[in-house]
Amino acid sequence: MAERLYLNGQTVVDRVLSAVVKPGDLVVDCTAGNGHDTLTLARLVGPRGRVVALDIQPEALASTRERLKEQPYGGNVELHQMDHQDLEELDLSGARAFVFNLGYLPGGDKLRTTRADTTMRALQSCLDRVVSGGVVTLMVYPGHGEGTREHWALSTFVKELDQNQFDVVRMDFPNRKNHSPYPLIIQKL
Ligand SMILES: C[S@@+](CC[C@H](N)C(=O)[O-])C[C@H]1O[C@@H](n2cnc3c(N)ncnc32)[C@H](O)[C@@H]1O
Repeated sequence: MAERLYLNGQTVVDRVLSAVVKPGDLVVDCTAGNGHDTLTLARLVGPRGRVVALDIQPEALASTRERLKEQPYGGNVELHQMDHQDLEELDLSGARAFVFNLGYLPGGDKLRTTRADTTMRALQSCLDRVVSGGVVTLMVYPGHGEGTREHWALSTFVKELDQNQFDVVRMDFPNRKNHSPYPLIIQKL
């Protein structure tokens, strides 16, 4: 039997990031959480690159800091305790990738989840700032209350993006019975 590909959303996001992000790039993790995506990004940009990672929760940033300490990555990572809807306060123009992993911190307070209104504001800022050829990736979790609202807000928003300016791809899992998390990827042309 052929090797299983494990085609879940996260593996697809990781493959897209590996294809797009190059050593020396500026990249942004908009939801640092436990730091898995921050670490992936730091490895991709290498010692000449810059990773900016944001989260509203100090516990998340502490967890990200621990993960970075334990694993060699060699990148230049800045951690900011801030809401991603305010990301225009940072100088992020020219970023190659903005990464969102929506929802709440695994093992943390489920009420401190990403929200449709602030996610949409942040996404617009990212689309304004990402370089041509760069991407905004989102892992969307439609199976809980606020996640369902984000799912609908995002679905409506991306349908209206000009196809001459953006490619939009959304992965679907048609034979799954629950509301599977899915990746939504937007590339600026
Ligand atoms: C699913 S977790 C992220 C997982 C993370 N990417 C990882 O690799 O472990 C979502 C994170 O988003 C954070 N968050 C929620 N609302 C936010 C906001 N408005 N701005 C920034 N971070 C936010 C939460 O605190 C939580 O840590």
